[in-house]
Amino acid sequence: MCGIVGIIGKENACEIILKGLERLEYRGYDSAGIYVANQETDHLVKAPGQLTNLAQKLTPEITGNIGIGHTRWATHGVPSEENAHPHLSQGGRFVLVHNGVIENHLELQETYLNGLALNGQTDTEIVVNVIETLSEKEHLSAFEAFKKALEEINGSYAFALIDTQDPTKLYIAKNKSPLLIGCGEDCYLVGSDAFAMIHETNRFIELKDGEIGILTPQQLWLEDADGQTIDRAAYTAEVEAADIEKGLYPYYMLKEIEEQPSVIRRLLQTYFDEQHQPIIDDTLIKQLLASERIYIVACGTSYHAGLATKATFEKLTQIPVEVHVASEFAYHQPLLAKEPFFIYLSQSGETADSRQVLVQTNELGAPSLTITNVPGSTLAREATYALSLVAGPEIAVASTKAYTSQVALMTILAYTLGQAKNNPLCSAFDIFHELELAATSMEEILYEKEALKIAAHDFLANQRNTFYIGRGNDYYVALEAALKLKEISYIQAEGFAAGELKHGTIALIEEATPVIGLITDEKTKAHTRGNLQEVKSRGAHVLVIVQANFAQDGDQVRLPVVHPYLTTLTSVVPTQLLAYYATLERGYDVDKPRNLAKSVTVE
Ligand code: M6R
Repeated sequence: MCGIVGIIGKENACEIILKGLERLEYRGYDSAGIYVANQETDHLVKAPGQLTNLAQKLTPEITGNIGIGHTRWATHGVPSEENAHPHLSQGGRFVLVHNGVIENHLELQETYLNGLALNGQTDTEIVVNVIETLSEKEHLSAFEAFKKALEEINGSYAFALIDTQDPTKLYIAKNKSPLLIGCGEDCYLVGSDAFAMIHETNRFIELKDGEIGILTPQQLWLEDADGQTIDRAAYTAEVEAADIEKGLYPYYMLKEIEEQPSVIRRLLQTYFDEQHQPIIDDTLIKQLLASERIYIVACGTSYHAGLATKATFEKLTQIPVEVHVASEFAYHQPLLAKEPFFIYLSQSGETADSRQVLVQTNELGAPSLTITNVPGSTLAREATYALSLVAGPEIAVASTKAYTSQVALMTILAYTLGQAKNNPLCSAFDIFHELELAATSMEEILYEKEALKIAAHDFLANQRNTFYIGRGNDYYVALEAALKLKEISYIQAEGFAAGELKHGTIALIEEATPVIGLITDEKTKAHTRGNLQEVKSRGAHVLVIVQANFAQDGDQVRLPVVHPYLTTLTSVVPTQLLAYYATLERGYDVDKPRNLAKSVTVE
């Protein structure tokens, strides 16, 4: 969602901000803007649409040693130049960028703005004018007015503010939306994530909810919600600028799909010792073992990863597992077990829907674990425990390697618990070896990607709708496959429990409707084949993705055989490639699908 970059102390602020905004593009946006200033001049430039529209307006005289930039994902008001950030107050004194949602913006407008005409429809424009009104009416300094406005605000925000009358300070504040401080040489930066600043520094200071700060080129001053000064040390991030480059790949999504075998191998290096025994924090394991029921809470692809591991998790741990969509759980909480344990699956670690649930379960005093790709993220910090997916930055909006890493790490966790319980199923499961084999199998599937390109052309490229069907874990992969296809190719796709089709949905099958069947389970293979026959008889164009040991003549995509606990790692790969190639063929931007954001920081 919205991305923020700011800097103070570098003459080429505009260039640095633009680079930062490019690095934030992956988060999703529909307009962008930059404000830069020095003691003599200032410039505010905004443009709807792609960042290139903004870049074209940035002439060489637009320079400054302080500035803020923003990519906006529209919430209040259409994507337009007026609604793009930074927002300038009507009196021209303050310039503000914001990521989040101000829930009481209409009340603030009514209380403070006295009918003042605004340029657009955003909540942020109201806030910048509230700051200006407070500074004028109550004769407050910029910092005092900013603080006072924050006291009045309900909602989520990451703010960066400049006082145009004194462009020697950058004011920042955070509540529920991500914001990180970058410590450069003779400069400070601020950004929605480390990627936005990694071209200038790899040293960062975390900002926590309720904190507010002032940055100058040499100094950083932070205070908490109670006005107490904070002295927080910087940490060095492991992410390198090269990690977030595409290299020779045309799209991040393809790069990330191809990285999946190495992500599995990195998990093996991270979570196993030299004897191939799992190494996961003992206290976490004990607390999980003491739980009566495990609740996995997640959204989108991460939710599908939760579903795809539920059966194995229950088998290996003998603890019941429920998987919930965070946005539903937050407002319709089920009756909880007496000793619940919550697992939050989130690539970004910033998803507002999941965080909303975490806040509630923390209030209940329930123990929790966040499994995320971003170790310092909000969900990681606020849960009792955190485990890293070690997948490396995932830039494409469509999540791929985070999914497989979540499935693999959940399996490692389940195995560790089962082993601690002496579950005989664990003795019969050489998880290290089986995961190594799964990584190799993924590679084998990737070698055959040309065949999937052809299949995408033959089955999907010109279609308006598609079905993925399967049973059990194949059904859960079908859900993920359909999400992947629809989010980037805009083909309406549905993941369906194969046996459920005949109870209504089969009415949608007509001549040439693509139906993609997933078969990796001995128990259900015959039934899924039966369901595929049913749709074929009604004209469907059937593509079968099948594990090689269950293959029959005419099946198009054959998967190497992996351990039954790990089939969701391999069967998802061809579906990712199908989505990728179908999207290419339809001429859309694979990495930046319309309307979507990588990190969904609003509820
Ligand atoms: O960062 P998270 O894993 O919490 O994000 C959850 C979903 O927004 C995310 O998985 C989304 O569904 C993906 N873009 C799908 O590819």
